[in-house]
Amino acid sequence: MLSNSRSFFTRNTSVLSTFKQNIIRTKTGVFGAPKVVISPPKSISSFFSHRSIRSYSTGTLTTPLQSQIPVANAVTNATRSPISHRAVGWWLIGTSGLVFGIVVLGGLTRLTESGLSITEWKPVTGAIPPLNQSEWEEEFDKYKNSPEFKQLNSHITLEEFKFIFSMEWGHRLMGRTIGVLFVLPALYFWSTGKLSRHVKWKVVGLTGLLGLQGAIGWWMVKSGLDEEQLLERKSKPTVSQYRLTTHLGAAFLMYLGVLWTGFEILNENKWTKGARSSNPQVIKTLFDQLQNPALKRIRSLSTGLLCLTFITAMSGGMVAGLDAGLIYNTFPHMGDDWIPSQNELFSDVFSRVSDQSDLWWRNLLENPTTVQLVHRIMATTTFFSVLALHMYTVKRKAIIPKPAQKMLHTVMGVVSFQVALGITTLIYLVPVPLAAAHQAGALALLTTVLAFCSRLKKPRPQTISYINKLMKEQLKK
Ligand code: HEM
Repeated sequence: MLSNSRSFFTRNTSVLSTFKQNIIRTKTGVFGAPKVVISPPKSISSFFSHRSIRSYSTGTLTTPLQSQIPVANAVTNATRSPISHRAVGWWLIGTSGLVFGIVVLGGLTRLTESGLSITEWKPVTGAIPPLNQSEWEEEFDKYKNSPEFKQLNSHITLEEFKFIFSMEWGHRLMGRTIGVLFVLPALYFWSTGKLSRHVKWKVVGLTGLLGLQGAIGWWMVKSGLDEEQLLERKSKPTVSQYRLTTHLGAAFLMYLGVLWTGFEILNENKWTKGARSSNPQVIKTLFDQLQNPALKRIRSLSTGLLCLTFITAMSGGMVAGLDAGLIYNTFPHMGDDWIPSQNELFSDVFSRVSDQSDLWWRNLLENPTTVQLVHRIMATTTFFSVLALHMYTVKRKAIIPKPAQKMLHTVMGVVSFQVALGITTLIYLVPVPLAAAHQAGALALLTTVLAFCSRLKKPRPQTISYINKLMKEQLKK
């Protein structure tokens, strides 16, 4: 077993590169101090004897004092864990659960046509809802000035207004809550040193995305409140499908970002635990599998599948934004034929310039018939891509880690369910529970595809050197 593990370390090229980096850092010296020159070991196996503090001091030293600087660096770099604390991983997974929840609540807000009931954006004071009759009436009066009330809802009572207001207010409150539950723990984990360097950057990016999402939300709502914009779009009072899809896309990216980082941290902690266990051989086998060059193709295909699923979901956002699920409620036919006529798919009604140079893209993004057809095509492509990848990997079972294999079976199940839900939503003319379930299904599908990608992910070089170190210590015991 010892010799096995030794050959594992010996094969591991990243160990060599870490060594090279150490040598370069040592040669450069600090603030132009005279350099410490260490001759590299003749073989990788002898490297392990050179990694200790003792071996660093075996170099040719110019002065004893300067030699201590790189030695101290070597000690810190060798012992500091490049892996974030496990609690950080669970916090991120918890955040992804909250983002999942707010996406579904946002879908319900749209489906119950409640999204345009609050006509202002007050990030802080807006958290307090109307508390008495006069405050409710004041809020209702503001709504009475909106195009939605004037054109579509002039019949609604104060009681009905209270329902749509509460839906939108609940959605915004949940957004604020996620902000607080993300930022405060982030500050705590940062200040207590539980975040690794590369996770710190991700947390900063995700915080930015979270703030941006609030702004995108208001930008979206404004498109349904502004009479000039509605006239320009020749639209009834609803939000722009472009802005709705941007809002949906940013939420999905936030979800995928926290989930990916959470998975990565939990995986790395699992490997650390495995390397410290009495049987580090399991981790060695897994690392061998993940570093197999033959896995590269499957890894690229899995990333492609993730992008394809994301784009399909965004095309669904366009369907939702244009209420395009309320026409052509048959499947697989659209009306009497497989697809509508070309005149209908590329109608000049949607063009806005005299030479009609925008005919194609305007129809692809603004004509409900074409937008629905695009979603059908994207969804079918996604389904068959999963099927093809599944068949491809079944034939290459031997090279794929077991957890990834299992996850791909789940992806197959979820994509079938999602397609069935989409068809049912369409046939039954978009009832609220089915449409909300279909939206949640899109997130569930993305979750499983992301988990599949994560289980195929190569460990980071820093993680490999750290785990190697732990395994070596374990084997010495
Ligand atoms: C891989 C498969 C699919 C994915 C990932 C997907 C994703 C989505 C997403 C994210 C939405 C937006 C939901 C919202 O914002 O409320 C949506 C809407 C929609 N999808 Fe799909 N979809 C898939 C398959 C299908 C299929 C096969 C059909 C039927 C032909 C379909 C029909 C619809 C309809 C009618 C809507 C509009 C629902 C509404 O107005 O709320 N989908 N889809």
